[in-house]
Amino acid sequence: MKKIIIAIDGYSSTGKSTIAKRLAKELGYIYVDTGAMYRAVTLYAMENGLCGDEGIDREGLIGKLDDIKIRFVLNNTLGYGETYLNDVNVEEKIRSMDVSNRVSGVAAISEVRHKLVEEQRAMGKDRGIVMDGRDIGTVVFPDAELKLFMTASPEIRATRRYKELLGKGKEISFQEVLKNVTDRDYIDSHRKDSPLFRAPDAIELDNTDMGKNEQFERIYNHAMRIIKKQ
Ligand code: DC
Repeated sequence: MKKIIIAIDGYSSTGKSTIAKRLAKELGYIYVDTGAMYRAVTLYAMENGLCGDEGIDREGLIGKLDDIKIRFVLNNTLGYGETYLNDVNVEEKIRSMDVSNRVSGVAAISEVRHKLVEEQRAMGKDRGIVMDGRDIGTVVFPDAELKLFMTASPEIRATRRYKELLGKGKEISFQEVLKNVTDRDYIDSHRKDSPLFRAPDAIELDNTDMGKNEQFERIYNHAMRIIKKQ
């Protein structure tokens, strides 16, 4: 059977990565979390004095892009790749609120996007990939055989994220999480380069009132229908 590309886009904390990981596992495909790549660039900028409370040193970061090497290393216990930034496992660090609060600004820089989009296209050149992000179906793989666009109400997304962070022992208020989710939605959808929007040929999935298994089954059935046609 010919392998396909599955592009999953949508707003922050809509559960894209949970579905994408499960789908990739079930199909024997590679899973790529492109948000992790933007987060890793942001972490690099923060650790190198290029992104702090005073904002982003845009030119400084652009000048350092060639020094930023991101890769995913399969963790057999977890069953998916963990993010490495210049050979250091940063999977945990890139999920911090500090990174979450700054990543949309970094992701709005065209030079950053250009570098990461090229790397993402290279990862998908043999197809057989499930990639999630904000511009996968519109920019990275406009020819993806299956495109999904995931949405849910901001409150439900913030609630899910809040519980996840509490579970990890993070001290945070619900209002702070809700603000981060809505701020990122706004910046991601209004930036000049590759703003977040639903590709006209993407299937929209609003999971405000939908359980994980129901979502998964719907998407899996779409994928199998397309794969069988190849
Ligand atoms: O999926 P995530 O929440 O981990 O993504 C973090 C940020 O990265 C998100 O706010 C916007 C940006 N991003 C992007 O601009 N393009 C992508 N393909 C993936 C993420």
